[in-house]
Amino acid sequence: MAKNELLYEGKAKSIYGTENPDELVAVFRDDITAFNGEKKDCFSGKGILNVGVSAFFFSMLEENGIKTHFIRMGDERSMVVSKLEMIPLEFVGRNRAAGSLVKKFPFEEGQVLDPPLIITDYKNDERGDPPICDDIIYALGILTPEELGQVREMTLKINEILFEFFDKLGLLLVDFKIEFGRLDGEIVLGDEISMDSMRLWDKETGESFDKDVYRFGKGDVMSAYGRVVEKIEEWKRQNVR
Ligand code: ADP
Ligand code: TMP
Ligand code: ASP
Repeated sequence: MAKNELLYEGKAKSIYGTENPDELVAVFRDDITAFNGEKKDCFSGKGILNVGVSAFFFSMLEENGIKTHFIRMGDERSMVVSKLEMIPLEFVGRNRAAGSLVKKFPFEEGQVLDPPLIITDYKNDERGDPPICDDIIYALGILTPEELGQVREMTLKINEILFEFFDKLGLLLVDFKIEFGRLDGEIVLGDEISMDSMRLWDKETGESFDKDVYRFGKGDVMSAYGRVVEKIEEWKRQNVR
């Protein structure tokens, strides 16, 4: 599908309109940022790895009854998606304590969170994506209590599906961030599910295979991302239907 005007340029993706008003093209660029854009770099091929992984998970979630914006792949670094009216919230699912949770609250790094936590942040770069509570979500008219309940349920189900899958690859899904939007009055999963938006630890060694490698200078982020892709490809080879 031919992309036309650039509608939005985010930190890692560019969103284009198409001749179909209901469809967009999301281009996964090679840019990588951390700490709200304070740290920035560009790694050749990163976008291709992330778009492939995102498309794989959107398809897997669709097969498991979760509606997503994914329609089909575009070129090697883009996907065609349904145009959503984005909900300005980030839903973070957490199976283990890490990252900002450990910074803000007295959890031990790696502490098991059972049941998993679902935390919401207000998506707004200028305000530093602050944590938001249910009452503020309702007062701002972002979601109704019923809708918030529904999105939490979807996030828990997505967590179960992803956790179980990564477990088979020898990886622990520590946490992840997802975004939702509205499509014809229905709430569907949007944005991406990639190594940029998850924490993945080796189940045995605890080694990171996600953006923390870049955030905290723990090694070569492209090798880490490449390793996740290799594991997924290996799983696909063993599970051909
Ligand atoms: P950010 O905005 O956080 O810097 P990106 O660089 O990933 O992030 O930009 C992608 C933008 O596109 C995000 O703001 C995201 O909310 C938005 N988006 C993702 N999926 C869709 C969609 N299906 N329809 C409209 N907007 C989308
Ligand atoms: P946090 O511990 O820094 O709050 O991150 C929780 C999860 O959300 C982690 O998997 C990384 C992901 N994440 C994003 O995808 N985008 C962001 O802007 C941030 C801060 C985190
Ligand atoms: N997504 C934010 C950024 O790109 C924060 C992060 O991922 O650490 O700057």
